[in-house]
Amino acid sequence: MQNLFLLLALVAAALAAVVQVPLVKIEPYRNRLIREGRWVQYRKDREIRRFMMNKQSNDMSVGQYVNDYEDEAYVGNITIGTPQQQFKVILDTGSSNLWIPDITCGTKPENCSTVPACRGIICQFECDDQACCGAGANYTDSCFYQNKFDASKSSSYKTNGRNFIIEYGTGSARGFLGQDTITFGGIGEPQLAVPNTVFGQATSLAAFFEGQPLDGILGLAFKSIAVDQITPPFINAINQNLVDLPLFTVFLEHEGDQNGVQGGVYTYGGIDTKNCGPVIAYQPLSSATYYQFKMSAIGSGSYHSSKGWQVISDTGTSLIGGPKAYVSAIADAVGATWRDDYGVYILPCSAKINTLDITIGNQVYNIDSSNTIIPLGDGSNNCIYAIFPFSSGGFGPSWILGDPFIRQYCNIYDVGTQRVGFAKSLQSK
Ligand SMILES: *[C@@H]1O[C@H](CO)[C@@H](O)[C@H](O)[C@H]1NC(C)=O
Ligand SMILES: *[C@@H]1O[C@H](CO)[C@@H](O)[C@H](O)[C@H]1NC(C)=O
Ligand SMILES: *[C@@H]1O[C@H](CO)[C@@H](O)[C@H](O)[C@H]1NC(C)=O
Repeated sequence: MQNLFLLLALVAAALAAVVQVPLVKIEPYRNRLIREGRWVQYRKDREIRRFMMNKQSNDMSVGQYVNDYEDEAYVGNITIGTPQQQFKVILDTGSSNLWIPDITCGTKPENCSTVPACRGIICQFECDDQACCGAGANYTDSCFYQNKFDASKSSSYKTNGRNFIIEYGTGSARGFLGQDTITFGGIGEPQLAVPNTVFGQATSLAAFFEGQPLDGILGLAFKSIAVDQITPPFINAINQNLVDLPLFTVFLEHEGDQNGVQGGVYTYGGIDTKNCGPVIAYQPLSSATYYQFKMSAIGSGSYHSSKGWQVISDTGTSLIGGPKAYVSAIADAVGATWRDDYGVYILPCSAKINTLDITIGNQVYNIDSSNTIIPLGDGSNNCIYAIFPFSSGGFGPSWILGDPFIRQYCNIYDVGTQRVGFAKSLQSK
């Protein structure tokens, strides 16, 4: 018996793998809307919807952090089914569900009898499927440009029978659940195949997804925050012994102006020693929900606060968010000014500024201006300073360490040991 176990362990180890999958950089939705002159209206709409969502419900979404992906800049390929159908997704450490559009997405209105009667502007936000609310001929199908999953073409597909709905600040994705083999990595790329993964097949998407160069979201955080308590794909890979180590490493390339270029690498099952220096330190998670841990101090130049906060490391957020008082003090210290219509801090792209210094454990991590000064995309010489005021409403983490931090330091999301490691990012440019 013991020999059998040993044999099985050896077989599992032989099959386990480290898989490195490339990312591509896309233009953030925010930059596109700024370029098109639609950002100001979009932000107003979003505020109204958030207000209404909070008013409506005492349940799940109140006060919780919802990722809008409007500033997301990195996408990777996955496939679902046999033979493989390919999708572009955000690989998001700030959420825990996988969903992609279903073949039926946008082809028929949702069950309109479940939609509350609504009028005018309110309708835009209460009514997830505008086709139900009288938008009629002017309704644009937000799934139009996306790749869609056709379960009838997959021999490994299993029905699940349950529904799902995921709320975002600007709308929702809803549909039903299915089960199939998914792969991290696209066709022709290195792949990690994970059989029997449950995922969402969206039959409607909020208008917000319309025209975005991505199909869906793949959440990499823990099951405890997954909608419907579905086992997230990477956790499922660990449970099936499909990876060498129960962790993954994220390396993100510097932000640039270009679209569609190599944007980084996700390494599943191991530490990325090619793109990342030696691990500087690990910080234990204070909560295995998001990748949440303690940050003891933050500052820049003459400003420093060591109040101490709960933070999350989140690949799905393109800036660093925190409580307004501290964020504005840091912005003052680097000479960035709040631009109300854009809802960001701006400064001249050529500004010479101090590093943003973050203390975790007994290490200080310095983020250079190459990672905190971000092109705005409006044709001016102004850039975004990479912090934004964020309120968790008293729940969850106080700060979000998004891409500027992860570009400077590779993050090792150690699911098995419940800790996050940091290593210098060896940028190619
Ligand atoms: C994904 O697949 C597309 C189409 O095959 C390819 O052009 C792209 O480089 C791949 N990688 C990423 C990260 O998008
Ligand atoms: C639509 O929703 C109503 C109210 O929840 C329900 O009674 C009805 O069965 C649903 N119809 C379909 C086709 O799902
Ligand atoms: C659709 O849009 C056109 C032009 O903006 C407008 O004249 C028309 O009334 C709209 N139709 C509906 C059903 O809202």
